[in-house]
Amino acid sequence: QRIIHKEVTSSTQDDAMELIQSGAANGTVVISDAQTKGRGRLGRDWHSGPDGGLWFSMIVKPEIPVHRAPQLTLITGVALVRVLNRLTEQSGTFRIKWPNDILADHLKTAGILTEMHADPDRVRALMIGVGINVNQVAFPDWLAGQAESLAGLTGETLNRNVVLSHFLTEFEYWYQLFLAEGISSIKTIWEANALPTGHKVSMYSGQTMITGKTLGITDEGVMQLIDDDGKVHELYSANLEW
Ligand code: BTN
Repeated sequence: QRIIHKEVTSSTQDDAMELIQSGAANGTVVISDAQTKGRGRLGRDWHSGPDGGLWFSMIVKPEIPVHRAPQLTLITGVALVRVLNRLTEQSGTFRIKWPNDILADHLKTAGILTEMHADPDRVRALMIGVGINVNQVAFPDWLAGQAESLAGLTGETLNRNVVLSHFLTEFEYWYQLFLAEGISSIKTIWEANALPTGHKVSMYSGQTMITGKTLGITDEGVMQLIDDDGKVHELYSANLEW
């Protein structure tokens, strides 16, 4: 496995895309101490200065059709939540919030951004970007009350290389299980580590606010939500207010 380290980059997702185009192997990881244009889902900025976070992207090449790509976000979430709970000795403090957040008591500690390079029907390569707030002692004002670091939670500084290596080992385990058996047993673990279903949520669909309850995810990682009028919505990505 090849790990490429940079002191600073625009976004490790862009680096991963370039690496894919120049033929990088499955399993290549690119990590940077700081990103100048780190990004999150839905075009949002991802705060990723040189202040102690772990920012990396993995190049993964599973032989799967495009509609199964979100399953890799489920696998990554399972690996992340387990490693964070274990490394910080907090059992169950960290939970997955569909589709891609890891929260500790409602505060975001890690996020996943899965992007792909695909033919119309088959995935050629995925760029799985992971950001973990490891050692930051403070966050910018616009993240106040929304984000937390592992150090902030535990009062202890963690070695980021140790966090990365634990994560990669854990991810490899679940990824191999996925290749061998598919998603179903992993989905059960995902559910056990996620915010509970049946919870009242709201979201915007365009300008309209929808309120309802989560019904849970399908094998494909699609969230089903039943709104207050009884209509079921299938969500591929959304920002659910819990
Ligand atoms: C989200 O919560 O919306 C996803 C955040 C993903 C952030 C990581 S940091 C490493 C990689 N490079 C990026 O630009 N984004 C991802």
